Amino acid sequence: MAPRHHISRAAAALAFLQLACAQQPGTSTPEVHPQLQTSKCTKAGGCVQQQTSVVLDWAYRWIHTADYTSCTTSSGAINSTLCPDEATCAKNCFIEGANYTAMGVTTSGDTLTMSQFVQNDGTTTSSSPRIYLLDSDGDYASLNLLGQELRFDVDLSTLPCGENGALYLSEMDHTGGRNQYNTGAANYGAGYCDAQCPVETFKNGTLNTNGAAYCCNEMDVLESNSVASAFTPHPCAADSSNCDKGGCGFNAYGLGYKNYWAQGGTLDTSKPFTIITQFITNDGTTTGTLTEIKRIYQQNGKTVPSAISGPSGDTINSTWCAEVDSSANQFGSLTTMGEALGRGMVLVFSIWNDNSQFMNWLDSGSAGPCSSTAGNPATIQAQDPTTHVVFSNIRWGDIGTTFTS
Ligand SMILES: *[C@@H]1O[C@H](CO)[C@@H](O)[C@H](O)[C@H]1NC(C)=O
Ligand SMILES: *[C@@H]1O[C@H](CO)[C@@H](O)[C@H](O)[C@H]1NC(C)=O
Ligand SMILES: *[C@@H]1O[C@H](CO)[C@@H](O)[C@H](O)[C@H]1NC(C)=O
Ligand SMILES: *[C@@H]1O[C@H](CO)[C@@H](O)[C@H](O)[C@H]1NC(C)=O
Repeated sequence: MAPRHHISRAAAALAFLQLACAQQPGTSTPEVHPQLQTSKCTKAGGCVQQQTSVVLDWAYRWIHTADYTSCTTSSGAINSTLCPDEATCAKNCFIEGANYTAMGVTTSGDTLTMSQFVQNDGTTTSSSPRIYLLDSDGDYASLNLLGQELRFDVDLSTLPCGENGALYLSEMDHTGGRNQYNTGAANYGAGYCDAQCPVETFKNGTLNTNGAAYCCNEMDVLESNSVASAFTPHPCAADSSNCDKGGCGFNAYGLGYKNYWAQGGTLDTSKPFTIITQFITNDGTTTGTLTEIKRIYQQNGKTVPSAISGPSGDTINSTWCAEVDSSANQFGSLTTMGEALGRGMVLVFSIWNDNSQFMNWLDSGSAGPCSSTAGNPATIQAQDPTTHVVFSNIRWGDIGTTFTS
């Protein structure tokens, strides 16, 4: 069991007050979500701006007692004396607001910038933030993308081998698992799950006392750096016991198009560009069966030719998934993915690197041009301490409405 905790607004206010009274500097931060404008588009009404914001994941936060003792142990697990159960933990422990700048997350208008490393007092540390899109009502925004499309601009020119600037969808609970012991929930980034079935201190907002995994449907719209990329559906079993962890990812380099996603390539990753992902159904409606996940790129005001020439373009379909991913059909392949997209998923942004595998699955060997050791996080920190990803102009809605073709 491992936890972090959550608190009522009154408790949070009290904690802050105590802090202020005690005058302990730098120990308490109100939670202020960076605003990020996004747009929803329809054929009938065009694009309408929404007042959305972003929230840092729960696990990145300080959880402490009323007198500012940590509620986690030195190894990062929850202190089981303070948190033997949900109710006691909620009474003893408080979760802190985040300093987004210090965590490497900034927004301006419709633009979000995320940095892998942060510099404080001359010391560089890895922050690797993961954040979620919040609606103005305090719950996660629900993106219902079946039969719809998602568009955004990205600048990943500073991401070297081994970095992963990611934009994806997870079928998290939209409240973040809000309950009587966790009234903040989505407001403090609770409830993360994905198709790798993570085991975390809290599960769906509740103290995870039995170390349970939390699997959910995941659609990786973009996992990328300046030399490699993939988009990958990861459907899960209906009972959430397991998922298609590998997935049938589309990676142009892996398919033999080695100068497609590249600096100076067909799609020039040294400059910003637009990514449109269409979730196409068998009957063209938003309730049909997902049959195709189609990718379109635009750069310098023009549509970039797809890597695969011909009418299908760069697309993922169930026939292909069955060929390249022996687990796809076991989890219902695109049909399952489409059902999750139809129910609504949470938009996740992250920037990360990988201490154990150096992100080789994404950009090394047959997947990309990087050496097997180039993605060592220590190398990245030494050579690219300012590596970051910029996402902007995020829109979703009816097919054909989020961009000009
Ligand atoms: C757990 O918290 C209690 C009360 O603050 C403290 O005495 C104890 O040392 C903590 N245990 C660990 C392992 O941190
Ligand atoms: C947030 O952290 C930055 C350093 O990254 C610091 O300059 C700023 O004062 C902090 N803000 C608050 C409210 O603590
Ligand atoms: C997550 O928590 C919410 C709020 O308690 C609940 O409605 C929902 O069913 C939970 N979901 C899962 C998968 O446990
Ligand atoms: C299915 O996807 C593959 C891989 O992108 C593509 O080669 C094939 O043409 C697609 N099939 C159809 C019917 O679109």
